[in-house]
Amino acid sequence: MAKKKSNKYLCTGCGHIEPRWMGKCPECGSWNSFLEQVAGKEEIDTEVTTPIPIPAIQFKEEIRFDTGIDEINRVLGGGAIRGSSILVGGEPGIGKSTLMLQITETAKVKGRVLYISGEESLAQIKLRADRLGIHSAHIEVYCNTILENILDTMEKIRPVLVIIDSIQTLHSRELSAVAGTVSQVKHCASALNEFVKAKSIALFLIGHVTKDGLIAGPKVVEHLVDTVLYFDQASAEIRVVRAVKNRFGSTDEIGLFNMTETGLIQVKDPLSLFLEHREGTPPPGVAIAPVYEGSRVLLVEIQCLVVPAKGGISRVFSDRIDSRRIFRLAAVLEKHMQLPFSDMDIYVNIAGGIKITEVGIDLPLSLALFSAKQNLSLPAEITVLGEVSLAGEIRAVSRIESRVKASLDLGFKLVIGPCMKTGEWPDQYCQVKTIQEAVKKSFTFQPKALPPQEKQ
Ligand code: TYD
Ligand code: MG
Repeated sequence: MAKKKSNKYLCTGCGHIEPRWMGKCPECGSWNSFLEQVAGKEEIDTEVTTPIPIPAIQFKEEIRFDTGIDEINRVLGGGAIRGSSILVGGEPGIGKSTLMLQITETAKVKGRVLYISGEESLAQIKLRADRLGIHSAHIEVYCNTILENILDTMEKIRPVLVIIDSIQTLHSRELSAVAGTVSQVKHCASALNEFVKAKSIALFLIGHVTKDGLIAGPKVVEHLVDTVLYFDQASAEIRVVRAVKNRFGSTDEIGLFNMTETGLIQVKDPLSLFLEHREGTPPPGVAIAPVYEGSRVLLVEIQCLVVPAKGGISRVFSDRIDSRRIFRLAAVLEKHMQLPFSDMDIYVNIAGGIKITEVGIDLPLSLALFSAKQNLSLPAEITVLGEVSLAGEIRAVSRIESRVKASLDLGFKLVIGPCMKTGEWPDQYCQVKTIQEAVKKSFTFQPKALPPQEKQ
């Protein structure tokens, strides 16, 4: 049973804890914002002892701060939050330490910034900081792997932003297990999470994703933290950061970066980042789709290859699109276009390597499959969008207007998509009701019939 103590008070404005009730919060300056806390439960907004009417709940936007990197702000839902913990996962070498060191410099925070490393020596971090042009004196580096030392240091220097690189190198003296085991990783992450909530610190916790399973991966702490970001490598230089959990924002935005000699540079205009930009007619199996990733349109090239199945059983090989979606669309083509896929192996890729989950990919993927199976190229000038039902009907998807505009802006001359009952649509938007109609309209398109448009 929770024992009620009166010696802990939480500021509902910023999460700051004081042993006594105070009229004004010394941390954020709010008046009458302290609420009594149950001892040991020092959570920012979930553990107040009395119910509060909704209008009286104070959630100050200033506890959210600008990380100085727009791509990360967007993924986080408008910036990072003080008193929250953010897990940054990804394979070794992908750029986690680089991005986090960059954030220590760019973050718009008033106060001390602490970069704690159990991975690298001071000299290695200094070398990296030199390479990234990081010289600010308010950024302090502490190389240590013992949880208790780290908590003491944080208590002493009271940073506002802390990076821990990485959770798998930490160990607590309270446990006998070695660093990197599930019990150590969970214990350390949980202690750090509680600490930063109580002290209103923003914590970025780096976690390596490992394939061999010897070290506990970031998955084991996902439930403990507020936000989980994963780093993915789309191509040699392109890195994609995606939120898979976010208590303070949505999870459908992505951040795009270029890994360069001087660190990670944001991709400002990603519209055509995932196109191959080839001359002339594309090979069979290729279709271009305007897809939504969060609030932005990207044009992506889908590539399909269909070959007779080796074992006689149809298989799908696809890292970038869910294979169940591919099986479903192949079945729709088989039923409604009389195109057998049942003894075929299907390979699907997205140029540039980005993962796509949205429904707007259905129709372009179907046309790419059709093109691959029939060994017939789609015209280079068209893009395709729309959801495909099991009955072979083409259904509307979100924000079609901006998908059409993005396609035409990039110089495509025809967009094939679902029928729209309302709205004014440009001549270049070709509305189709069924998969048969989509196939007919796209493969018979003659670009010469339309006035030429400048390619960007
Ligand atoms: P790193 O941030 O160390 O990866 P992680 O912490 O995820 O293991 O980055 C690793 C790679 O990035 C490494 O191969 C070197 C390269 N890199 C650059 O290309 N440019 C840079 O400015 C930096 C600092 C690293
Ligand atoms: Mg690293």
